[in-house]
Amino acid sequence: ARPRPAPELRSETAVRLDLTVRMRRNRKSEWSRQLVRENTLTVADLIWPIFVMDGEKERTEVGSMPGVQRLTVDEAVREAERAASLGIPALALFPYTDPSLRTPDGREALNRDNLVCRALRAIKAEVPHIGLITDVALDPYTSHGHDGLLTEDGRILNDETIAVLIEQSLVQAEAGADVIAPSDMMDGRVGAIRGALDANGFTDAQILAYSAKYASAFYGPFRDAVGSSGCLKGDKRSYQMDPANGAEAIREAALDVEEGADMLMVKPGLPYLDIIWRLKEAFALPTFAYQVSGEYAMIEAAARNGWLDGDKAMMESLMAFKRAGADGILTYFAPRVAEKLAREA
Ligand code: PBG
Repeated sequence: ARPRPAPELRSETAVRLDLTVRMRRNRKSEWSRQLVRENTLTVADLIWPIFVMDGEKERTEVGSMPGVQRLTVDEAVREAERAASLGIPALALFPYTDPSLRTPDGREALNRDNLVCRALRAIKAEVPHIGLITDVALDPYTSHGHDGLLTEDGRILNDETIAVLIEQSLVQAEAGADVIAPSDMMDGRVGAIRGALDANGFTDAQILAYSAKYASAFYGPFRDAVGSSGCLKGDKRSYQMDPANGAEAIREAALDVEEGADMLMVKPGLPYLDIIWRLKEAFALPTFAYQVSGEYAMIEAAARNGWLDGDKAMMESLMAFKRAGADGILTYFAPRVAEKLAREA
């Protein structure tokens, strides 16, 4: 039976458009939608960033990232086991450094027994086959919250900072990091770190360059998680990129590629899909998106208020990264996505 025309329609004549192309044909059923689907998201696309801490409690909540917890080293090992059994290829480790260990020069970054190094050794010993990525930057260790060394008059010193970052990279590689990920945005750091790794026998350590890292408001909850939001003096605009710029990301990435980066990253994620696309097209390197803390918090906050379907928004945002050309995604949703994909398989 033909559906009755809505009462306000004046004409009784049936409309039959003479369309050669009807885009809806391919969408008519689930099997067809599956068949024409251009991109897929799998567990192999995921990198899970986790926060490690010391202390009495096994886990503490990150207030601005509901559902995300800081973990002691023992708990991090447990979660690494869970991640490995779900098939998540790699973890990215971030430390909540005790405030008493934060100094203007961030020297705790070079301590061979700092949190990140202990977590690396513990996870490597128990879960040897999961990839471990470490952040190279001083912000979890400095009393002023900046990624580099700060002068009295508020400037970030580039070359002096690089000297420290080289040492930080070596300390991480010695403790078992598979992938060194400089997120500091100093000029020349990828080449300097590559040289130092090679000179010290770490020719196999990969470098994931945070090539296009923007000075973004979306990092707010992360700074809570690592405890640097309270102490950050000023902002990071003298080293992180201006959100208004796109071509500049290509120059940044070109330098990192020349200096020996094995993989590139764009950060934040969803507001910068155009940059992911441009870098992937320009360099054809493995290119990763970081769905950062503020992106996670937005989806989670809206979901917890009943304003959108959190699971669907999570999956849609991750698929958008694949469509933009990302080879993988750093996301705090990683274990949840992995579990969902496993249930649906
Ligand atoms: C530190 C660093 C930051 C993030 C990753 N590494 C914060 C910053 O640059 O201030 C942010 C990640 C997130 O927001 O999830 N260099």
